[in-house]
Amino acid sequence: MTESHIQGDILIVDDSPENLKLLAKILTANNFQVRGSNSGRYALKSIKKKLPDLILLDINMPEMNGYEVCRQLKNDPSTADIPVIFISGLKDNESKIKGFEAGGVDYVTKPFQAQEILARVRTHLSMSRMKHHLEEIVQERTAELQEVTEQIKAALKEKEVLLKEIHHRVKNNMAMMSSFLQLQIQQVTDPEALQRFIDTRSRIYTMALVHEKLYHTEDLKNINIKEFIHDLAESLIFSYTTSPHQITLNTDITDVSLNLDRAIPCGLIINELVSNALKHAFPKNRKGIITIGFATDSEEKYILTVSDDGVGLPEQINIQETDSIGLKLVPLLSSQLDGEFAIEEGQGASKKGTTFKIAFP
Ligand SMILES: Nc1ncnc2c1ncn2[C@@H]1O[C@H](COP(=O)(O)OP(=O)(O)OP(=O)(O)O)[C@@H](O)[C@H]1O
Ligand SMILES: [Mg+2]
Repeated sequence: MTESHIQGDILIVDDSPENLKLLAKILTANNFQVRGSNSGRYALKSIKKKLPDLILLDINMPEMNGYEVCRQLKNDPSTADIPVIFISGLKDNESKIKGFEAGGVDYVTKPFQAQEILARVRTHLSMSRMKHHLEEIVQERTAELQEVTEQIKAALKEKEVLLKEIHHRVKNNMAMMSSFLQLQIQQVTDPEALQRFIDTRSRIYTMALVHEKLYHTEDLKNINIKEFIHDLAESLIFSYTTSPHQITLNTDITDVSLNLDRAIPCGLIINELVSNALKHAFPKNRKGIITIGFATDSEEKYILTVSDDGVGLPEQINIQETDSIGLKLVPLLSSQLDGEFAIEEGQGASKKGTTFKIAFP
């Protein structure tokens, strides 16, 4: 019998020499390689030495019965996968159930038919081989998947680094533009032109700040709005006022994050409204309070409010007809956010000052 013809390595465990002989004869005649053992304990040793492909196991044996042998095999990961077929003279259902509970895959009663034994052995061997094959495929695919996952992770990391670099460069370029404007500001003498330069520099700074905030965040997608509004407002107050004590800044901002597409319009709106308050609400260096609120309402909308306790909007102002662009820009930016823009009455009992409100989803 050559190796290639061998159909499988079978261990027969039976304390009856006649049974052992008979089973071995049937199996070897059908090209199986056979080992025999007449006790449970020896069988376990023999299995450990070389794992068989399948075990035919008698139940009633002195010292250690077949159930116990099977249980021990199933409890050991190195032998748990070997299919065990019980061959026993016990014909009652209870014994059969016990066999399956111990981990057997099949149960044949004595006296047995050679064809039945062969059919069952072949079926369980091919099932066991199929199972191994499937496990190998799963293992291979899992390894492949792991490799692909690693590659994706690395690519993602690289993308993040690039994105960070881009935000950094955009911010640097904007900072440079802001510096060029600063240089020109020093040469402008006309007060109106000077104001235009300062406003433009402030708008550029606002956008630069968004990019700066982005490359400092972990996910590069979301900006913490609280920190952003604070930094923006502080910087505006610094560039539009001469005395540090003239304006008090109050903020009430929920801890939320916005992505780039929303943070930029939001930042530009705040830039226009806060700079307006700084430029127009407190003439002759009068002291005042600017309040910025950012909250979510019951309809899950974000509500941005900017208010001041200054002189209030001029009586007959028509935003559409002014030459200025600030208050024309705010409704445009609001619609970029799919939001609504409203000018509300002044705050407090005296209804002094101005309040702007933007609600966006
Ligand atoms: N918070 C405010 N308090 C008082 N008046 C304001 C306030 N905000 C705006 N205004 C008035 O509304 C006008 C229009 O504002 P708008 O922002 O459009 O123009 P601007 O600030 O003069 O110029 P810019 O185009 O640079 O913004 C201002 O000129 C000012 O008279
Ligand atoms: Mg303005």
